[in-house]
Amino acid sequence: MSLARSALLAVSRNQWLARQMSQRTFARRAVKRFMPGEEPEDALAAAQDLAAAGIGTIFTQLGENLTALGDADAVREHYLWLLDVIRQRALPAWPSVKPTQLGLDLSQEACLANLETLAAKAEAAGSLLWIDMEDSSYVDRTLALFRSLREKHAKVGLALQACLRRTPADLDALLPLRPTIRLVKGAYLEPPHVAFPAKRDVDAAFLQLGERLLELAARGGAFPIFGTHDIRLIARLTDHARALKVADSAWEIHMLYGIRAADQRRLTAEGRKVRTLISYGRSWFPWYMRRLAERPANVWFVMKSLVG
Ligand code: FDA
Repeated sequence: MSLARSALLAVSRNQWLARQMSQRTFARRAVKRFMPGEEPEDALAAAQDLAAAGIGTIFTQLGENLTALGDADAVREHYLWLLDVIRQRALPAWPSVKPTQLGLDLSQEACLANLETLAAKAEAAGSLLWIDMEDSSYVDRTLALFRSLREKHAKVGLALQACLRRTPADLDALLPLRPTIRLVKGAYLEPPHVAFPAKRDVDAAFLQLGERLLELAARGGAFPIFGTHDIRLIARLTDHARALKVADSAWEIHMLYGIRAADQRRLTAEGRKVRTLISYGRSWFPWYMRRLAERPANVWFVMKSLVG
């Protein structure tokens, strides 16, 4: 892992900097590269435009590691409102939540109850509830939450991180559920005994897991989503899907708002199912630092915003 990446990921946990930066105009200007705006209506308007271009949406209200259960209640209420709006506007949209945003640090039971409420509402709204995967200290608890949710709700998806050495075994253990899985490379700073430190090993693990998921999809055993901007990997997985005759509707590609927008449209035109994850909200600092860490060249945009 590069020094710049480790430094940015370490900075992402600094709460003092988070408070300082969220108030700075230059930082808020730079963040706009990755989000249409801080308000839910900004995200909804962007989703409407994407829908007109045949691209679906995933919505995430930013915020993580809450310290009071009352705050988690407010997050749950927000997503219940959002699911109503998704239904009323007939948007092809799914919400994606972080367990620590729904109280996981404070109570696993309360977090599960919040997720249950959202999963039931998502189902009723014709949507699907996504659970993000946070750093490796949360994986066991997040898998347990997913299993409990799947006992009652089919329309729930889970992110798995290719960078983690444990992920192939975690995927195997989930197979009896015929799971909906978003495969991502992994955005957190992890020790080398937990995650592959070299990017080429993470890329290789992604390809292997991706091919496995497509083989499962070919016989209805999983619904794979590839959450990546890695065009080379997407091309290889597309070839594999074709060779296995996996229907275009049986797997999807998800990317983040503001990254490879032209490729999102090109892939859609080529017949792929594409969705854009749109984030919004005021608590963007740790999330934004993770975006900079993915491509330290992005720091240049922050510098330009300082003077522009
Ligand atoms: P990689 O980092 O190799 O990038 C490939 C290319 O994409 C780069 O060369 C560059 O051109 C472009 N690119 C990538 N990131 C960029 C950036 N920030 N700015 C500009 N260009 C960039 N992680 C996690 O741990 N838990 C989760 O739940 C999720 N959820 C999630 C959902 C979705 C829909 C996506 C797309 C991603 C996530 N992630 C995530 C983040 C993921 O783990 C990973 O950090 C990023 O997607 C970057 O990795 P890539 O796969 O894009 O490859």
